[in-house]
Amino acid sequence: LSTPHAAPAPLPGATMRAAQFHRYGGPEVITTGIVPVPVPRAGEVLIRVGAVSLNGGEVLFRSGKLRLLSGRRFPKGLGVDYAGEIVAIGDGVADVAVGDQVWGFINNLKFAASGAPAGSAAEYVAVESKRVAPMPVGKSPSEAVALLVGTAALTALRDKAALQPGERLLVRGGTGGVGYVGVQLGHAFGAHVTTLVSTPKMDLARSLGADIVLDYRTTRPEDLGEFDVILDTAGSNMSAYRKHLSRGGRMVTINFSPLWAGALTTLVSVIHGRRRIRFFEGRPIRADLVDYASIIESASIRALIGGTHDLEDMAGAQRALEAGGSHGKRVIRLHDQA
Ligand SMILES: NC(=O)c1ccc[n+]([C@@H]2O[C@H](COP(=O)([O-])OP(=O)(O)OC[C@H]3O[C@@H](n4cnc5c(N)ncnc54)[C@H](OP(=O)(O)O)[C@@H]3O)[C@@H](O)[C@H]2O)c1
Repeated sequence: LSTPHAAPAPLPGATMRAAQFHRYGGPEVITTGIVPVPVPRAGEVLIRVGAVSLNGGEVLFRSGKLRLLSGRRFPKGLGVDYAGEIVAIGDGVADVAVGDQVWGFINNLKFAASGAPAGSAAEYVAVESKRVAPMPVGKSPSEAVALLVGTAALTALRDKAALQPGERLLVRGGTGGVGYVGVQLGHAFGAHVTTLVSTPKMDLARSLGADIVLDYRTTRPEDLGEFDVILDTAGSNMSAYRKHLSRGGRMVTINFSPLWAGALTTLVSVIHGRRRIRFFEGRPIRADLVDYASIIESASIRALIGGTHDLEDMAGAQRALEAGGSHGKRVIRLHDQA
C-alpha cells in the first residue's frame, strides 16, 4: 500500500549518482558516475535505494576475475542487493505499490553482462517486481541490507540441514556476514551453538547467542567434539571438520573453496559417504525473503553493521572489505535517514 509520506518519483530525464568502474583493476578504478535514472519497464519497479551492502563477489567482479561471465562492456555498475522504497511502477505490476519498503537482490550477472551503467549501488535501481519483498519491520535500510545475505544461513540451517531443537551446531566464522546470522538463527531454533571466530570477536559471538566460543587460530579440528550440524563459511580444511559429524550429522558449506583439494573433498562427499558435505549457491526468491523477514521479526535477529560508507567512498569500502578483520556486513548508505 502507498504511504502518506512516500518519496516523490524522479522527474523524467533526471540523473543520479552511481558507483561504476570503466576497466577491471584495483579499488582505484571505482568512480561515482552521473547516469540517467532508470525508467521501470513492464513488470519492473523503480526503487529509491536506502542502502546496499558490500559483498566479496563484487570485489572479484571489479578485479576482472569473473570477466568470462561479466564481459568487457564498460562502464559497469556495482551493488547486488538493496533496501529502499518503491517510487514508481512499470506496466502490469500489481503485486507491489508505490511507497512499499522493500528489499532484495538484483540479477547481478545479468546486470554485469548487459553493460548497464549502474547496479544497485546507485540512488535508484529498477528491478523486476517478482524479485522484491517487504523489508523486515522495524529495521532501517542499512540494517536490512546487513541482514540480507543471511538468507544463506537460513537456507543452510533450515532447508539443507533441517536443524532441530537440542542439536549441536558448529558455525565456522560466527561473526562474518553469513555466520553472524547463522549463530543467531541456531540459537533461535533451539540448538546448542558452538562457533569458531578470531580472538577479537569472541565477546561479540557470545552476545549473538553462541553457547561456546572458540578461537579458530588456536583450536584444531581434532580438539572439537561431535556436532549434528556444521555450517561452514570458511571453506578450508573441510574434510577435517566433516569427521566431527555425529551419526546422521549434516555439514553445509556456502564457501566452495577454489582450491582443488577443497572442491574435490566436497564433490566426493556429495556423491559418497555417510557424512556428506552439502554445498549450495543461494538464489533466494520472494517467498524466501518473506519467510526470512518474518523470522527476523519474530526471533529478534539483530543486524551487525561492520562499517558504514557513503556512495563516494565505494573504493574505500572495498579496500576495507579486502583488508578483512571486520564483522557483520559493511554498508553503503544512500537514502537512509536512520
Ligand atoms: N553460497 C552462497 O549462497 C553464499 C552466500 C553468501 C556468501 N557466500 C560466500 O561465503 C563466504 C563467506 O561469506 P561471508 O559474507 O560470511 O564472509 P565474511 O564476512 O568475510 O566472513 C567470513 C568469516 O570467516 C572467518 N574465518 C576466516 N577463516 C576462518 C577459519 N579458518 N575458521 C573459522 N572462521 C574463519 C572470518 O573471521 P575473521 O575476519 O575474524 O578472521 C570471518 O568472520 C564467502 O566466500 C562468500 O562469497 C556464499
